[in-house]
Amino acid sequence: MSILLDNIWFKYPIDGKWVIKGVSHEIRDRVVEVILGPNGSGKTTLLKIAGLIYKPLKGKVIAWGHDFWRLKNSAAVAIRRKIVYVHEKPILLKGSVFHNIAYGLYLRNYGFNEVKTLVDRVLREYNLLYLRDKDSRSLSAGEAQIVSILRAIVLEPEILLLDEPLAHLDIDKRRIVVEAIKSLRRNGSGIVIATHDMYLVERLAEDIYMLKNGVLTRISKEELIKLL
Ligand SMILES: Nc1ncnc2c1ncn2[C@@H]1O[C@H](COP(=O)(O)OP(=O)(O)O)[C@@H](O)[C@H]1O
Ligand SMILES: [Mg+2]
Repeated sequence: MSILLDNIWFKYPIDGKWVIKGVSHEIRDRVVEVILGPNGSGKTTLLKIAGLIYKPLKGKVIAWGHDFWRLKNSAAVAIRRKIVYVHEKPILLKGSVFHNIAYGLYLRNYGFNEVKTLVDRVLREYNLLYLRDKDSRSLSAGEAQIVSILRAIVLEPEILLLDEPLAHLDIDKRRIVVEAIKSLRRNGSGIVIATHDMYLVERLAEDIYMLKNGVLTRISKEELIKLL
């Protein structure tokens, strides 16, 4: 068991309307699930709750067996490291692509040689070594997005949450994302993708959910086809 959402309710302070209404859901290892839903249906909000970023107003987030929002700081930090949320809009650090992909590894106390090996390996694997020494500010939107995804992949998180990962990507980079997700899944991670893009559903989705008006419902591929 990794992340269990138990009857989660959430609203933003200013608006006052419930955005997430009683969602219960388990994120499982070795499964790629896709959460679909119209703009504004709460996909990003739900991912940030599952990603231990937003605290729900009601309900519990059980993370690896612990009631997360009742943990002490040090225990919470260790648990947060198991799960990585990739923003829809890439937020890169100043400096090179290498530095951006390396940063999370340094935070996890990897040594310099190991970091170099891991970063170069992931760049080589996806034919992106040409980006290695570029300044993050000089990247195209698609390049920045793929770097933000590789930065998460290199950490091999137990759970990876991807928010609209394909928004700026051309077909080659879409394939890279699909390959990277498959490889992570083979290694045992659970992956949740929030999107309204059918490309990932067709290629990767093992479970499909629909989020509408704050309510999450599982749907079959057959039901999805009827909705299109
Ligand atoms: N920071 C915020 N403050 C207030 N309302 C927000 C905020 N972020 C999102 N919302 C509102 O919450 C609802 C769900 O948004 P979001 O989770 O971003 O949906 P989605 O990712 O499915 O497009 C929308 O009505 C949106 O306007
Ligand atoms: Mg969103």
